[in-house]
Amino acid sequence: MKEESLVQLAKSLLYKKALVKVDGEFVGAIASIPRNLDNQDLNYNEIFIRDNVPVMIYLLLEGKFEIVKHFLNTCLRLQSDQFQTKGIFPTSFVEIKGKLIADYGQRAIGRVCSVDASLWWVILACIYVNKSGDRTWAATSQVQIGIQHLLNLILHPTFRDAPTLFVPDGAFMIDRALDVWGNPLEIQVLLYGALLSAVGLIQIDLEEKGHINTQSSIDLHNPDLRDPKNALIGQQIYRKSYAIAWLKRLRSYMLKNYWVNSKIVQTIRRRPTEQYGDSVANEYNIQTETIPHWLQEWLGDQGGYLIGNVRTGRPDFRFFTLGNCLGATFDLISSEQQRSLFHLMHQNQSSLFAQMPMRICHPPLQSEDWRKKTGYDRKNLPWCYHNAGHWPCLFWFFAIATLRHTHRQSSADNLMIDRLLQDNYELLVKRLPQQNWAEYFDGPNGVWVGQQARLYQTWTIVGFLLTHHLLKVNPSDSNIMDLPSLKNFASSALPNLEND
Ligand code: GLC
Repeated sequence: MKEESLVQLAKSLLYKKALVKVDGEFVGAIASIPRNLDNQDLNYNEIFIRDNVPVMIYLLLEGKFEIVKHFLNTCLRLQSDQFQTKGIFPTSFVEIKGKLIADYGQRAIGRVCSVDASLWWVILACIYVNKSGDRTWAATSQVQIGIQHLLNLILHPTFRDAPTLFVPDGAFMIDRALDVWGNPLEIQVLLYGALLSAVGLIQIDLEEKGHINTQSSIDLHNPDLRDPKNALIGQQIYRKSYAIAWLKRLRSYMLKNYWVNSKIVQTIRRRPTEQYGDSVANEYNIQTETIPHWLQEWLGDQGGYLIGNVRTGRPDFRFFTLGNCLGATFDLISSEQQRSLFHLMHQNQSSLFAQMPMRICHPPLQSEDWRKKTGYDRKNLPWCYHNAGHWPCLFWFFAIATLRHTHRQSSADNLMIDRLLQDNYELLVKRLPQQNWAEYFDGPNGVWVGQQARLYQTWTIVGFLLTHHLLKVNPSDSNIMDLPSLKNFASSALPNLEND
C-alpha cells in the first residue's frame, strides 16, 4: 500500500472506529477496535489512560484541542475520592448504560493498579496546556485541586527515604507479574515527568492569580496569602517547593543508581559489600554475582542506559525501552548520556528493533526465573508479550526521543540515528497493515504476531501516525513532549520546607 493511502487508512480507523463518544462528545479511544461490536473482548473495549497518551498527543498535533480537553476533564471526574485511593486516576473506563464505570485495579486481571495512569494524566495535562495555550483551563480550581490530590499521593511521609516511588508488580504498561515490583524505571521516569508537569501547572495558576512576580519568585508578602480563604494557595506554594526539592533529589538519585555504562559497571563490580553508615560505596549491598555477563557486549565501549530497577541486593539490569526513551525525552539524562543511550540501541538493534520495532524489555525472564517470578504466566512466556515481546506502539517514543536530541545537538552520530529511524519506519509501513495493526509480536526477532495479540490495536495505529508525522510531516513537532525544565525552577524563592 502506498504511504499516503496507509496514512489515510490509519486516520480513518482512529477517527471512525477507535474514538468513542459519550453524550455526543468524544471521550477517548478504545484499546482495540473489535471485529464484531457484540463480541467485546475482555477489557479492550475500554478507554485506557495509558493507551490514550499517543492518541491525545496525535490529536494535539492535529489541532483537536477540544477532544483532548474533554478527555482530561473526564479522567479528572473519575479521579478517586475514596479514602484509601484518594487522588488516583483509573487505569481505564467504559460507558455502561449511560454511566462511566472506572477501573482502578479492582476489576483488573490480577487486581493490579496502574500507577502510571495517574502520572500520565498530569503530564498530558501539561502537554495540552503548552500546545493549546489554554492557561485558563490550567488555572481552574478542578485542575488545581486534582493536582493537589495527586501530589498528596506522592509527597507524604513513608517508611523509606529514597525519592523513588515504590510500587507493586505490574503497575505500568507491563501490567502482569514480571518481577517489576519495587522501583521500576518507567514509574520513576514518569514520576519525574509528573512532578515537572505539576510544578509547571501550579506555577501557571499562581501567575494567573498574581502570586508570582515577573522573576517567577513567589510573593510571600502578598497579604492575600494570610487569608484562610486562600488555603489552596498555601498548599500549592508548599507542595510546589516540596516537589522541586523532590525533583532534584530524584534526578541525582536516578543518575547515581540507575545509569550504567562500561566504566560504571567495572566500578560497581569491585565495590566492597556489608558496609554500614552514612557514606558507603555500596548502599544497596549489591553482590558482584548479580551483575550479568551479557552486559559486557550489550554496553560496548560507548553505550549507556538506565537499568530496570534498584532494590536492596537485587538490581534489575534488564533494559526497558519505554523508561529509557522517556528518560531522554524528559531530559532526566543529560544529552551526552542520551547519545550513549542511542549508541547502545543502535549497537543492539538486532535485539531491540529486529523485525518489529521495538522490543519492550531485554532479555526475557527464562526457566526458573520465568516460573517463579511470573507465577508460570503463559502470556508472558520468554520472548512473548511483556517478557521481551515486540510492541510497535513503542517506536514513536524512540522517534521523539531521538529527534528531540538531534535537533538540539549536531553530531556525526545524527546520521546513524536518522538511518535507524528511516529503516525501522519502512519496516512498520510494510508490516503493520499486513499484520492488521497487531498489538504485539513474539519471538527473538518479532516476526510472529503475538499469540494472544489483539488486531487493530489503537496505539499501534496511532503510534504509526505519530511516527509518520514526526519523520515525514513535521520533525520539529518532536518538541511536543517538552516539559518545564528543572533548571528554570531552581531559582524560585522557596518557603522553608521545615514549616509544614
Ligand atoms: C494490556 C497491556 C496494557 C494495555 C492494555 C490495553 O493489558 O499490558 O499495557 O494498556 O492491554 O491495550
